[in-house]
Amino acid sequence: MKPGINRRQFMQRSLVGAAAAPLVARSVGAEPGAAARPVPANDRIQMGIIGVGARVQSGVMQSALAHPGVEIVGVCDAYKGRVARAIERTNGRARDYGDWRALLADPSIDAVIIATPDHWHKDQTVEALAAGKDVYLEKPMTLTIDEGPEFIAAADTSNRILQIGSQGMSSKLQQTAREIVKSGKLGKITLIRATYDRNTDSGAWLYPIPPDADEKTVNWEAFVGPAPKRPFSLERFFRWRCYWDYSGGISTDLFVHLMTTIHYVMDAEMADMVMATGQNYLHKKTHEVPDTLVAAATYPKEGFTVSLGGTFNNSSASQSGFTIMGTEGALVFRGNELVFTPENPVEGNGWIVASWPSALEEAYWADPEVQKREMPNTWPSAMNSEGESWSEVGPDATIVHMSRFIDSVRTRKPSSEDARAGHHAAAVAHMVNESIKRRMPVYWDRDTDVLRKA
Ligand SMILES: NC(=O)c1ccc[n+]([C@@H]2O[C@H](COP(=O)([O-])OP(=O)(O)OC[C@H]3O[C@@H](n4cnc5c(N)ncnc54)[C@H](O)[C@@H]3O)[C@@H](O)[C@H]2O)c1
Repeated sequence: MKPGINRRQFMQRSLVGAAAAPLVARSVGAEPGAAARPVPANDRIQMGIIGVGARVQSGVMQSALAHPGVEIVGVCDAYKGRVARAIERTNGRARDYGDWRALLADPSIDAVIIATPDHWHKDQTVEALAAGKDVYLEKPMTLTIDEGPEFIAAADTSNRILQIGSQGMSSKLQQTAREIVKSGKLGKITLIRATYDRNTDSGAWLYPIPPDADEKTVNWEAFVGPAPKRPFSLERFFRWRCYWDYSGGISTDLFVHLMTTIHYVMDAEMADMVMATGQNYLHKKTHEVPDTLVAAATYPKEGFTVSLGGTFNNSSASQSGFTIMGTEGALVFRGNELVFTPENPVEGNGWIVASWPSALEEAYWADPEVQKREMPNTWPSAMNSEGESWSEVGPDATIVHMSRFIDSVRTRKPSSEDARAGHHAAAVAHMVNESIKRRMPVYWDRDTDVLRKA
């Protein structure tokens, strides 16, 4: 649940979202790769959740539970306190499977939500798809750029639904932004400025650690899994985004939201080059990952460049969002508002012609075309146009995104954010980190859809 939304409002919004999902057919318990088996619309979807941490318990599980027929029957997590709290949130209906592989082995579970730290995403998703489950996987899809093709292959061969959880793209505002861009209202778009800025401990992922967390309540081995072996650390466990073993920092945690949106709104597939710089200026004691990033990603085929900026040291300029800049207007997206401002360029050559011989200057200003273009009292009325704005109304984006997943599970309609979209959005974020590491631009080969090695 989002701050500022009480439980009743959340449930009301949830039901609006749920009603939007047509309930037609679903495939349950099919073998991996088997054709979808339609079942009656009112049949239940039994869901399991792998990783019931902050994201799941602050909105994702409530979004799933808001849908009639959806039941959360199983959970697992590496910290006991979260398991207990999640089961409480299902009114005791969910069972603790202890281990994620045990949860996947239960044939009565149709679909899983995976919301573990990023270093677990690949193994758990690939195994879940192979076990015949439909998967809602939290963003970013990958921990490394090389993992992408494995996800795509697993989704393609399993014939299961894989939806990545970048909920923003399901918001009404982002859909409106996409329609505006498609309509041509912005003219020729050449630059998108995107930012993600914060300036709090919580914003920098220095979350409070539960006082009962210790080697008895935290399963360190289960957390580390495929990551490098390290001594027990509550900081690593609860603040994993600060460490390269489990996360790509600002770029993969936050820029990935921006990139998903930009790809969606602009109907763009993938950048061809990323050049970036990243420094850790103020968080050296707590973060391996940089606290300040600036990057440029170019899309020559689509004809625009994206500038990305993010810092944990100041949030006054913006919190997060982007501005799409076209020759006819700009579309600014911040928080819950989308604003279109028409572009009204007025030429101003007065200071140039003032250096001409006076007869030529006089002749210049006598030209009616010049007057129309350059004299304030003849500026077109569009100069005074205030533009348009839209505010987010209706259900929260996570609810709508979950509705789309549940709709796909029931109808076998393709995922609204599939493995390719998840791979490309995350790949741009990984290219940012790769460019910082290599200290040079990095290139994507769009023909073979892989990062160029050098
Ligand atoms: N879409 C969004 O807006 C959004 C917002 C926040 C987080 N997220 C994503 O959600 C995921 C989880 O983030 P979070 O903030 O909830 O982190 P978190 O640390 O609060 O939760 C992750 C949970 O996974 C558990 N876990 C770790 N290894 C496990 C294993 N092997 N088996 C079972 N459970 C295991 C941990 O114990 C923890 O409770 C991340 O991928 C993150 O990027 C998305």
